[in-house]
Amino acid sequence: MERAEHDPSYRRNELGRGGFETGSDTYERARPGYPDSAVAHLAAAAGIASGSRVLDLAAGTGKLTRQLHDLGASCVAVEPSPSMRGVFTRTVPGVPVVGGTAEQVPIGSATMDAVVVAQAFHWFDPEVALAEVARVLSLGGWLGLIWNERDESDPMVAEMVRISKWDTFAPYPVGRDFGKVIDASGRFGPVERTKVPFVQELDRRTFVEQVASRSYVQVLPEADRQVLLGQVAEFADQLPEPIGMPYITDLFCAQLRG
Ligand SMILES: C[S@@+](CC[C@H](N)C(=O)[O-])C[C@H]1O[C@@H](n2cnc3c(N)ncnc32)[C@H](O)[C@@H]1O
Repeated sequence: MERAEHDPSYRRNELGRGGFETGSDTYERARPGYPDSAVAHLAAAAGIASGSRVLDLAAGTGKLTRQLHDLGASCVAVEPSPSMRGVFTRTVPGVPVVGGTAEQVPIGSATMDAVVVAQAFHWFDPEVALAEVARVLSLGGWLGLIWNERDESDPMVAEMVRISKWDTFAPYPVGRDFGKVIDASGRFGPVERTKVPFVQELDRRTFVEQVASRSYVQVLPEADRQVLLGQVAEFADQLPEPIGMPYITDLFCAQLRG
């Protein structure tokens, strides 16, 4: 695990993919959706309206997909994990989801009005993935990247981050300006960044499950995983329910350059 901070291909292959091969029901239960105001902002900025053709890339269990589907967008999802796709088909019925990766998107060229990536761009090879996104977008199409990040300036979150070892294993520095990565590709711009704070209310079990749903926890040897989750459960036992988990949603939108 020590390599995780330093080796992007290790993170991508072992954590980005391996870390989501199981535990998809836990992921679906414990992770928050995206605040309505952030999704509305994404839709307005990226011109997503009823009938827009939207690709949700690395869709997971479809948390963002279902929100855009509810706005009337014509969505399609790409997700490499069969386990995630299994939950997706249950939770977002009627929206197609296909196996594939951001580095090799199984979607035709110039067929999408927008491509969105929720809580996943940090797992991609950015150069290759942005070239693929540009390929599938039609002229004037939009890219939207979004993350729900726990607000680590909150003392409770800071302690949870320490106990759960997120401070060691986070796959990217929380709050990172991904706009610079988008800019560097030269394919999209200008980048607009928006932050939206919100609070997710959790019971103690779901608080622990949320830590369990992190990919670095999923790939721990079972004995180590149990020890870590036991320590998180002990911490949760000291907190009054419901536990308010403060988040900041970080959203980046940019248009394909002509
Ligand atoms: C934290 S989950 C986010 C899922 C969903 N977008 C959401 O908002 O809940 C990260 C997802 O990225 C997927 N993933 C990891 N590496 C990927 C890659 N190279 N290409 C496409 N998807 C990838 C994983 O399988 C997982 O479903």
